[in-house]
Amino acid sequence: MSQQNARVIIFDTTLRDGEQAPGFSMDVPSKLKMAMALEELGVDIIEAGFPIASPADAEATRQVAMQVRRPVIAALARCRPADIDEAARALEPAERKRIHTFLATSDLHLEKKLRITREACLDATVTAVKRARQVTDDVEFSAEDATRSDRDFLCRVVEGVIAAGATTINLPDTVGYATPDEIRDFFEEIRRRVPNADKAIFSAHCHDDLGLAVANSLAAVQGGVRQIECTINGIGERAGNASLEEIVMAFRVRQDRLPYDTSIHSPLLYSTSQLLTDLTAEAVQANKAIVGRNAFAHEAGIHQDGMLKDSRTYEIMKPADVGQTPEQLVLGRHSGRHAVNRRCETLGFGLSADELAAVYHEVVTLGEHRKSIGDNDLRRIVARVRAGQEVSQSTH
Ligand code: KIV
Ligand code: ZN
Repeated sequence: MSQQNARVIIFDTTLRDGEQAPGFSMDVPSKLKMAMALEELGVDIIEAGFPIASPADAEATRQVAMQVRRPVIAALARCRPADIDEAARALEPAERKRIHTFLATSDLHLEKKLRITREACLDATVTAVKRARQVTDDVEFSAEDATRSDRDFLCRVVEGVIAAGATTINLPDTVGYATPDEIRDFFEEIRRRVPNADKAIFSAHCHDDLGLAVANSLAAVQGGVRQIECTINGIGERAGNASLEEIVMAFRVRQDRLPYDTSIHSPLLYSTSQLLTDLTAEAVQANKAIVGRNAFAHEAGIHQDGMLKDSRTYEIMKPADVGQTPEQLVLGRHSGRHAVNRRCETLGFGLSADELAAVYHEVVTLGEHRKSIGDNDLRRIVARVRAGQEVSQSTH
C-alpha cells in the first residue's frame, strides 16, 4: 500500500444481499465457512445477515459474530425497534459489531411500498439510529433507493441520522439505475450540502441492473465515498451487486487513475470465488472478469503467439495476482502452432518440423468436434503421428 493513497473500506455483503438472491441461500455451516474465507481474504466488514428475517439468519449472524474475530460483523435491521433488538442479540458475541439500519427515502417507495409520509420516514430513521447507538458506537444508516430520492429530503435525512449518531451513511443505487457521472455528482452534492457530512463515512451500494455496478462504485469513490458494499462473484438481488474482485483489481491495476487502496489479499480472490460456487452450486459465467474460467485463457493463435512472446500483450494483470493458474493456453481449433509446440514441449515431446505440422493439423481437425483438447488427447496425437497413423478420425 502506498502512503498517499486513500483507503477504501470493503464491506462485504455476500452473506446478506448475496445470500438473499434466488439460488444462493446457504445454511449456517456454509455461511460460517464463507465468513472465515472472507476474513482471510481481508475484508474490513462482513454483513452476516438480516437477523429478524428468519431464525436461521439470526443463528448464522450469531455464529459468525462468535467465530470470526478480525473484521467488523454487521447485521441488517429495518428502522424498527424489534429489528434492531434482534440484530443486537445476534451480534452480542462479536468482537467488533455494526448495526446497519435502513429505510427507503424515495417518494416512490414511501408512497407505494411503505405508505408513510416523508416526516414519518425522517422520524423513524432518527429513532432507529438512536436505538442502535445504545448497542454499539458503530451504526450505519442506509437510505434505500437513495439515488431516486428527492435530494432536498435526502439531505435532511442524512443530516438527521448523522446528528443521531450514524457513523456510516450508505446511499444505495438500489435498482441499478444510476450512471457513473451521475453517481459521482450525487455523492459530491450530498456531501457538500449536508452540514455535518464530515462526521460520517459515505458508502456506495450499487446494483447491477444495467451492468454498471462496478463502474458506479468506482465513480462514487471519486465522488468522496470511502466504503464500498460489494459481494464475491457480484451475487445479489436480481442482476447482483458490485463484484468485490472487480473493484479490488480495478484499484490495483489502474493506480494511475484510481489511487486507492484496500486491505484485500488479492491472491485469495479466485479460491474465495470458487468456495462460493461450491457452497451454492451456482457457477460463475466463463467470461466473468477476474474469476471466470476464461479470464486468463487464450485460444486464438495470434493471442497465444503474443502471450508466449510477452504475456503483457494480452494480459493486464498476472493470473497469480488473483490466484488463477498461469499460462492458460487452451488448445482447440483456433490455436496456433506456437502454442501447440509449447504444450508438447511441456509434456516432454521435442517435435521435428514435420511432426509439429502433422500434430498441429490433427489438433485443429479434432478441435472441430471438441470444445478443447486436453493433455491426454495431445499425448495420443503425438504417439500416433510418430507411429505414422492417421489420427483425426480415431482420436475421441
Ligand atoms: O439495495 C439496497 O438498497 C439494500 C439496502 C438494504 C442496503 O440492500
Ligand atoms: Zn442491495
